[in-house]
Amino acid sequence: MRRAPRNAVLAFAARIMRLVPHRDSDSDGLTTIRDTRHHAHRAGFAGLGSGPLDPHTERSGTPNPPRLMLLVCGKAAVTGGECLLTDGQALHSDLFTGDREAGVALARPRTAFFGAGDGHATQVFTVHHDMRVSVRLRFDGLARWNPTVQPYLPQLRAAAVRHQVRLTLAPGQGYLLDNERWLHARRAFTGDRLFWRALGQPLFPMPRGFAPAPASVRTPMLSEAG
Ligand SMILES: [Fe+2]
Repeated sequence: MRRAPRNAVLAFAARIMRLVPHRDSDSDGLTTIRDTRHHAHRAGFAGLGSGPLDPHTERSGTPNPPRLMLLVCGKAAVTGGECLLTDGQALHSDLFTGDREAGVALARPRTAFFGAGDGHATQVFTVHHDMRVSVRLRFDGLARWNPTVQPYLPQLRAAAVRHQVRLTLAPGQGYLLDNERWLHARRAFTGDRLFWRALGQPLFPMPRGFAPAPASVRTPMLSEAG
């Protein structure tokens, strides 16, 4: 029996994740992403407009953002609206090569505050005890920065954009990403673009974050000592 697309997305999501409800999600747990024409100018609601979105982590202002994000196209835009994905491993490598200053600063604990008043004090790169790394980022009005990382934000933004991969999705196509590794963004669009989003925790084991690329595994301390 052929399922309606939305139900097919929900059925697939339920096989791989425990869905986490979101402020904007519907009663079945999926969120309909479209231009509602009355959310665009509110901080934290830009996804429900038609403007471009900067690279970001989903739910960056919560203590434990959902690990998985599934985004599926229901209706393509007339113009624009492409999905843009940045591999956090590439971003991490980029900022830990050369003088490494940017990467080191952005890995210092509690140098960012993401979210509104009930947001979360955190950092762009979190190094876990096994030396794997998670990325967490947003650039919108709900990001506040410690003065020690502020000088590196232009470099961070440029690198996050430079490593973007562009996906032009047709109805029925989508992507599934690890929200501790990949940043997502979008180009501005016209038309009645409609996507369905599922956020959740995986129903299978996943080690935290990602393994840094070989070129960027030296710790700051070793590097500075050398
Ligand atoms: Fe998002």
